Amino acid sequence: MHASDVADDLVEVLFTEAQIQARLAEMAAEIDRDYEGKDLVLVGVLRGAVMVMADLSRALTQHLEMDWMAVSSYGSGTKSSGVVRILKDLDADIAGRHVLIVDEIIDTGLTLSWLTSNLGSRGPASVEIATLLRKPEALQMPITPKYVGWDIPNEFVVGYGLDYRERYRNLRDIGTLSPKIYS
Ligand code: IMP
Ligand code: MG
Repeated sequence: MHASDVADDLVEVLFTEAQIQARLAEMAAEIDRDYEGKDLVLVGVLRGAVMVMADLSRALTQHLEMDWMAVSSYGSGTKSSGVVRILKDLDADIAGRHVLIVDEIIDTGLTLSWLTSNLGSRGPASVEIATLLRKPEALQMPITPKYVGWDIPNEFVVGYGLDYRERYRNLRDIGTLSPKIYS
């Protein structure tokens, strides 16, 4: 769907489909340069990272393996606690290989902080993070993604994999959700 299909639900469109694709192409060019000649494994975090993974991986010009993890964080209500449970683990053995975690947004950073150290304990050559969005004001953990699409204000956004109650993931653009939807 397009932003025009859910115009009443959005306060504004932050990034259009074209802007997202252009930014991913820039990030892919950096990644291609940094990982040239290396054994690269992209690890997508289900389910939000599906769109970023699909488009970022196809913008890369080198061989890579794509793998997926599903995690759920224990916590009260919508608050992330940093205690994470693995629902689906990697199929790939990442020992000695270069791991790039692909995610759509870093909010508190609790999930990715846990995931980075979990993957780091499996003997990879390196573990880095590529995220399309980051909310610097919400960050609670000192994680430094190597590749960031954009920093955004601390507001709830949907689209391009990002959901509100499992909706809006199939929106092509990224927009700020109207508070009237969740109040
Ligand atoms: P955190 O960085 O551990 O707090 O959690 C990040 C996860 O929270 C993301 O992978 C999203 O699933 C979800 N999330 C955080 N902010 C938003 C948002 O603005 N819209 C939709 N999902 C979000
Ligand atoms: Mg997610």
